[in-house]
Parts: sequence; structure tokens; C-alpha cells
Amino acid sequence: MTNLDAGKFTLREATPEDDGAIAALVIDGFLDKFRPVFGRGMDESVKIMEKWVSLEHRFGGVTSFVIEGYEAGEIIASVGVRVAPSEDDVMARGLWRTLNRNLGFLRAMWATTMLSYPRYTALTGEAYVERLVVAPEARKQGLARSLLDASYDLARETHKRSVGLHVSGNNIPAMRLYENEGFTEVSRQRSLMTAKFLNIRDWIYLRKDL
Ligand SMILES: CC(C)(COP(=O)(O)OP(=O)(O)OC[C@H]1O[C@@H](n2cnc3c(N)ncnc32)[C@H](O)[C@@H]1OP(=O)(O)O)[C@@H](O)C(=O)NCCC(=O)NCCS
Repeated sequence: MTNLDAGKFTLREATPEDDGAIAALVIDGFLDKFRPVFGRGMDESVKIMEKWVSLEHRFGGVTSFVIEGYEAGEIIASVGVRVAPSEDDVMARGLWRTLNRNLGFLRAMWATTMLSYPRYTALTGEAYVERLVVAPEARKQGLARSLLDASYDLARETHKRSVGLHVSGNNIPAMRLYENEGFTEVSRQRSLMTAKFLNIRDWIYLRKDL
């Protein structure tokens, strides 16, 4: 455990009990992205995301970190870091079952297509950072930076040479954060589909060498 800001916050590795809180934070932090994906199924979005987070932890090679806030047990920030191989077939089947059950076939097909962006092929020497999110009331206090520091430490412990991530081209706060952290652009995917429906035209792949 790491104490941040003179004991105000606690950063720790997530346990399965945190999956629900992580899911709620992620849906809240990326509402603009998830509203068009889930549409009328938005009420089910936290449940679906919880299942997804749980699959990532069990089969996706992902370790998450969380930060507890003022009240013990209240999760105010989190990040996922993929450092081990992912059982992609198991993940895809599990996610599809959850989407289909909660949204119905057509909406599940739509959500699967939308959630397939950005596309990323895992590299063995790289840790991949995803769903970094800080609760709105806790932003601008260095919490995202602390979660990234924990991600770099985990990446080094697992013998990675770099950390990679994707950011959408219109996410200025996140772009500034990553630039200041020393990430540089490797490539970008352009999608007319997500430009039209999610208002995200560019998905930028960034990397930082450790
Ligand atoms: C992006 C996000 C994670 C930043 O979290 P945060 O805890 O507020 O960030 P930090 O306080 O650690 O900020 C670190 C640096 O990021 C940059 N930054 C953060 N928020 C910023 C903003 N609103 N505008 C410009 N730069 C910003 C600054 O360079 C800042 O350093 P500084 O305070 O020394 O200037 C947060 O805004 C968030 O959760 N957004 C919604 C989800 C999201 O977009 N996640 C990123 C997905 S790729």
C-alpha cells in the first residue's frame, strides 16, 4: 500500500470485491463513449462493465490498482494494466454472453462493434494501460499520475520494456497527462464509424519506454 498526500488517499492493488466500484467509475468517467454504445440498455451498463472487469482480471492478464478516498472503502480512481497473456477467446465469449443477455442480440452486436475500438495487438515486452479514470470531484490532485507510477512499477517488476496505451484524439486532459509523463505517439487509427457515433475520429497509440 502507498499513502498519498499525507495519508489522505490509499493506493492499492484491486481485489475482486472492487470490480463493481471500478465498473461504476469507468462508466461514469467515459459516459460520452458508453451512452451511444449501450443506448436504452444504459441501465445495465454498470453490470456489464463489472463482468468485463472481472473477466479481465481472471482471464485477460490484467491487474488493477485503485485509490481509496476520504471514506475507507470508497474507490475514487482506478486503472487496469495488462502485463500477462490474455485468453482472448474466453474473454470474447464471456463478454458476448453478458451483452446478449442484458441488451438483446441486435444491441449486443452493435456494442461489440463499438467496443472493438481501439484495436490493439499485445506485445510481450509491453504493459498496456487501460480505463484510467479518476472521479470528477477528485481530479487535478495528482491521482492519475500516482496510478501511472504504480503501473510503471508493475511493468518493471514483470520485466516489461515499455508501457503502451490508447487515448482518443479529443481527450485533451488525458493527452496533456500522457505528454507530461513522457509518452510519445507510435501510430493512430482513424474510424469514420466512431467519428460518427462516438465523436471520436482518432485513436492515438502512445508509448513510454521504461
Ligand atoms: C484524464 C484524467 C484521468 C486525469 O486525472 P487527474 O487525477 O485529474 O490527473 P492528475 O491530477 O494526475 O494530473 C496530472 C497531469 O495531467 C494533466 N491534466 C490533468 N487534467 C487536466 C486538464 N483538465 N486539463 C489539462 N491538463 C490536465 C496535467 O498535465 C497534470 O499535471 P499538472 O497538474 O502538474 O499540470 C481524468 O481527467 C479522468 O478521469 N478523465 C475521464 C476518463 C479519461 O479520460 N481517462 C483517460 C483515458 S485515456
